[in-house]
Amino acid sequence: MTNKVVVLGSLNVDTTLHIAQMPKPGETISAQSKTNSAGGKGANQAVAAARSHAQTSFIGQVGEDSAGEFMINALKKDRINTDHINVTSNAGTGSAVILLDKEGQNSIMVYGGANQAMSTDIIADSEAVIADADVLISQFETPQTVAYEAFKVAKKHGVMTILNPAPAADILDGLVEVTDLIVPNETESATLTGINVTDIDSMDQNAAKFASMGIQNLIITVGDRGAYYHTPDASGFVPAFKVKAKDTTAAGDTFIGAFSSKVLKDLSNIEMALTYAQQASSITVQRMGALPSIPTTEEISAEYK
Ligand code: RIB
Repeated sequence: MTNKVVVLGSLNVDTTLHIAQMPKPGETISAQSKTNSAGGKGANQAVAAARSHAQTSFIGQVGEDSAGEFMINALKKDRINTDHINVTSNAGTGSAVILLDKEGQNSIMVYGGANQAMSTDIIADSEAVIADADVLISQFETPQTVAYEAFKVAKKHGVMTILNPAPAADILDGLVEVTDLIVPNETESATLTGINVTDIDSMDQNAAKFASMGIQNLIITVGDRGAYYHTPDASGFVPAFKVKAKDTTAAGDTFIGAFSSKVLKDLSNIEMALTYAQQASSITVQRMGALPSIPTTEEISAEYK
């Protein structure tokens, strides 16, 4: 079974600078090479879902510029419905500069542009596509006010809502009440709960804190170690597959997109969906770039027979 997925989120053109090591404050360093690719947390998650054969639609905004055209065409190549991407003349298409060191670790700086200029009006025009979905995902690279409106529409139509609170920020009042499942990484989780993620006990404490805030279902991704999950019915840890990472950009996004393509609304198959998501992101980290690194379901099956 594969879900119908709607992603509300960001579209960025990523410029990756390949460097030997991260610069220190005040230091100027030379990059060994530079690559451009399609990215943005929203776009990456949508492409991961689509490459896992989810029927996928995107709600977002780009500027009236060549970067915007490039991003829309990138999604179309993966047969993603782009009818709900607004083109604005008020802001340029989002972009990101990624510093990637020789260990495969990155630092990312994002210019929100058109992503952050999105208004809630876009949701009124997207009700039908949300109502027809199984899952709606959003992140924090577009305004939380827009996610809130979209999640309210999703809840009205019985659609599962997944919030990826990245980059880390406080959650808007009300958004928690319409979130079915929250998927932070360890840093984002600690920012939201005030409880550092160090071991399973601390993850249980994070789950209890989220439950007291109103979100009953939690997945915390902990990089190359794996993913913790907690629901009212079950809790556990699914370890990551050990691989040599070249570039971790979009690994978390691949995880969420692949997971959303498989998970059932009652979360009864959460371990299976998490294992599949780990398989997908283990391939992403072995490739360079954001969108270009995301595997298809056929590539995942070939790697993990
Ligand atoms: O999560 C990776 C993404 O973060 C990059 O593609 C970049 O655009 C930033 O949004």
